[in-house]
Amino acid sequence: MSSQATADKTYAPSEEFVSNAHIDAAKYQEMYAASVNDPEAFWAEQMTRLSWTKTPTKIKNTTFAHPDVSIKWFEDGELNVSANCIDRHLETRGDQVAIIWESDDPNLDKKITYNELHQQVSKLANVMKGMGVKKGDRVVLYLPMIPEAAYSMLACARIGAIHSIVFAGFSPEALAARVEGCGASLVITADEAPRGGRNTPLKTNVDAALAHGDLGSTPVLVVERTGGDVPMVDGRDHSYAALMADASADCAPEVMNSEDPLFILYTSGSTGQPKGVEHCSGGYLLWAAMTQEYVFDYHEGDIYWCTADVGWVTGHSYIVYGPLANGATTVMFEGVPTYPDAGRFWAVCEKHKVNQFYTAPTAIRALMARGNEFVENYDLSDLKVLGTVGEPINPEAWNWYNDVIGKGKCPIVDTWWQTETGGHLLTPLPGATATKPGSATTPFFGVQPVILEPTTGEEIHETEAEGVLCMKDSWPGQMRTVYGDHERFVATYFADYKGYYFTGDGCRRDADGYYWITGRVDDVINVSGHRMGTAEVESALVAHAKVSEAAVVGFPHDIKGQGIYCYVTLMDGEEYTDELKVELRNWVRQEIGPIASPDHIQWAPGLPKTRSGKIMRRILRKIAEDDFGALGDTSTLADPSVVDDLIDNRMTKG
Ligand code: WT7
Repeated sequence: MSSQATADKTYAPSEEFVSNAHIDAAKYQEMYAASVNDPEAFWAEQMTRLSWTKTPTKIKNTTFAHPDVSIKWFEDGELNVSANCIDRHLETRGDQVAIIWESDDPNLDKKITYNELHQQVSKLANVMKGMGVKKGDRVVLYLPMIPEAAYSMLACARIGAIHSIVFAGFSPEALAARVEGCGASLVITADEAPRGGRNTPLKTNVDAALAHGDLGSTPVLVVERTGGDVPMVDGRDHSYAALMADASADCAPEVMNSEDPLFILYTSGSTGQPKGVEHCSGGYLLWAAMTQEYVFDYHEGDIYWCTADVGWVTGHSYIVYGPLANGATTVMFEGVPTYPDAGRFWAVCEKHKVNQFYTAPTAIRALMARGNEFVENYDLSDLKVLGTVGEPINPEAWNWYNDVIGKGKCPIVDTWWQTETGGHLLTPLPGATATKPGSATTPFFGVQPVILEPTTGEEIHETEAEGVLCMKDSWPGQMRTVYGDHERFVATYFADYKGYYFTGDGCRRDADGYYWITGRVDDVINVSGHRMGTAEVESALVAHAKVSEAAVVGFPHDIKGQGIYCYVTLMDGEEYTDELKVELRNWVRQEIGPIASPDHIQWAPGLPKTRSGKIMRRILRKIAEDDFGALGDTSTLADPSVVDDLIDNRMTKG
């Protein structure tokens, strides 16, 4: 994939699109300049998108100076996020649909109006209060993609509890670590999660998770999704339906400071266990709302669909908080793109007349591989804007998306951002930006990207540049800290390049000033748009009794973007067998979840190490890519012959 080859081809929005868009090219230039020249004034104006119970007088108070990093926006303002997403819309759009729920089963859907949303969220907030949950408490959500997931998020926000969603594909072990990590006082789950025609036993997973450590008495609220027969622990587990039936629908929203935490979301880093990314109320909501409106060019009455799962930040910002803060109609999809067949996305687009559609490159590649006949049966004429997120999109997939799905008339917004950023930072605006396949183009308002020379940390001022991507100043949606570990926050993002926020991504800027993400520069890999720390997979592998050492790297994968490649050394005396490979694969799935399934395990009786004992991953990456010619300098290795053995092994046994 050469992004350079297509760098010259640009796709400008049609005149008709531009004339109806919120932001055209001139407006973008004008607003962008205002946002960086006078951020205080710019954000003081933008904050009026939200309804504040106390209007902020202090707008921005942020510093990236190491080690005193501190980020505060609208710090004396007060608001409630659920009131902003629900109550303030009731007068004008109480009967408008807020959420269209499309279940795994193509014959089942449901429409929830803002009035109904208000009722459900208020009731659930009262249920949670009745279970003793208070402002500042943490609540873990381990749920399918059902309306109750959105109700739970908003009910937490209503009473000031901090939610921490754990993706329902994570294993009981991973769930336990997160319940423990945030000290949750309640877990909300469902009996089972239907996906692709199969049911995941969520409640059973919760039971297994709570068998760890001291978690045994954590209360559990169980949504009846399938009605499957699941064991309930007396006194600890509660039926959602039963408690909701008796709950009052009257619950005044708690007054929250703008800087009060809204949620924690665990994400993988280059070292150690996942960290709890903490986002706060005012700045985050403003960022989610503003980007949702401008990046998708959302207009009143549009039907908007982001196919992510609420277990990831994309689902937080672009299924729930952003669209609902804007009074939009948001589609929530429980299923998978290939069930009952590879036409499901397009069937749903036709059925609900979707106007903005937002998905991941991995899904686009997978569907492209299944052939156009799955698209051609459907009427996609309501589509106006297409979006992608999660990883670089290869021009081939971009072109297919543009031609076959968008019929050449829908601008594509390739949105670059991270769990840490809360929302989009680099992205086209569909009525303002001529796009280039594979480029996330230009910064959103208030975002000041810089490219640094990786070793010296010097800012490269020439327009054409390649290096590491950092941000020069804060934006309202930025994470505030790592939950319970501010030092780790500072060490992870602000220590390598002093004075900047370090994204962990490599990046190139072309002659037009467009940004091209080249991938992670740390030991984080991106599997189907899911972020995975190689250290996490390694620690899962070495937790197996027969494994003495493991080194994990990413390798290019046609559909997933990157696959997981594991080099494994066994304990002395253990036998290297194919059966053990299968066992180890299952072991990792069980320790982390199916998303961490190794794609390839290679036996490595020896690993390439420096004399000081550091594993040389650069070499392992090359071998995994079958790129044996360019291994670079191996002279510093303690035993260079292990490299030849690994290559031999790779070539003969695959
Ligand atoms: C990492 C963040 C943002 C929500 C989903 C992933 C990669 C994300 C793009 C894009 C190229 C991208 C980066 C980033 N990434 N979007 N449009 N083009 N790369 O969030 O799990 O926090 O992962 O995903 O490497 O650092 P995340």
